[in-house]
Amino acid sequence: MPIVVSGIRSTGNLHLGNYFGAVKNFIKMQEDHQTFFFIADFHSLTTHPTPSDLHTNVKQVLAEYLACGIDPEKSTIFIQSDVPEILELYLLLNMNAYLGELERTTSFKDKARQQPENVNAGLLTYPVLMAADILIHKANLVPVGKDQEQNLEMARTFARRFNRMYNVETFPIPQAYIFEGKDMVKIPGLDGSGKMGKSEGNAISLAESPASIRKKVMRAVTDAGPTEMHQTKPEVIQNLFTLMEVVSAPDVVSHFDNAYIDCSIRYGDMKKQLAEDIINFTNPIRARIEEIAKDNAYLSKVAKNGAEKARESASKTLEEVRKIIGFRRFY
Ligand code: TYM
Repeated sequence: MPIVVSGIRSTGNLHLGNYFGAVKNFIKMQEDHQTFFFIADFHSLTTHPTPSDLHTNVKQVLAEYLACGIDPEKSTIFIQSDVPEILELYLLLNMNAYLGELERTTSFKDKARQQPENVNAGLLTYPVLMAADILIHKANLVPVGKDQEQNLEMARTFARRFNRMYNVETFPIPQAYIFEGKDMVKIPGLDGSGKMGKSEGNAISLAESPASIRKKVMRAVTDAGPTEMHQTKPEVIQNLFTLMEVVSAPDVVSHFDNAYIDCSIRYGDMKKQLAEDIINFTNPIRARIEEIAKDNAYLSKVAKNGAEKARESASKTLEEVRKIIGFRRFY
């Protein structure tokens, strides 16, 4: 059975980009794959959260994962820092990861630009830690959004390099999981500036109140409107349509699409509809998040079981890797 690994950084609430880029596929895959889903709290340290934020964020993301429908009976759900084996593999992989290739990754360059006062070594080796997350369970498939494509490519590089270096077939080469043969998903933000993201400050979270969702959507960037029939949509407008495609019914999307084509579209109406459709989608999830977040006993049971199952799988891989590299115990 194919093995699936995927994770989410614990830097804030899950947003629509996380859901439609990754979580939606996790939920489908847990039915017929061996799935490991985790909360990447080590990865969140690159931005230096305070100790109390670190803990609250992990708890919130765990509750949100569960509220979305990731099922601890079917999947191994765990917190990255509960599995120290990942760190040992991270160290071992770091020995074969090169400065040049790490410096060239777009995510490193973006982060170095976003936080010039904090370009730490953890940022540089972020893709190595991510590769360790994936390879520690010998994953075949990784459901992630388009923004993680390059990090995943690096995980493949590190897997191939290890296998080649020791002439083994220890690591499968992990592939992106693409649903129904489509391209990897990129959910745009509402500010017309590319992807929706926590650090981009343009996200709508799953736990967000209806009032706040309405406000954000109504403020989304648009243009003066089409002036010619069958005009190609500029990016800011295409972004609104892309969001609509994931939350609204197909006939609603085609109604506004036709209105764009014949220049009768009113962006105000489209935004109102989009806001209501987002709210309809998030409402039941938000209610479940609130309920689950209160249930500390349940959260701790899920985290404990998940940690045990994840460590069992991780320690098997690590034992094998240690042996291949040449570590032998003297006792
Ligand atoms: P993170 O926490 O930024 O995002 C979690 C998942 O959500 C997807 N995603 C999006 N997909 C489409 N459109 C968007 N606007 C959008 N924003 C976020 C991401 O692609 C991701 O799948 N490095 C990872 C976390 C990670 C990981 C791993 C993932 C650490 N180790 C191992 C997979 C396997 C990250 O920062 O994702």
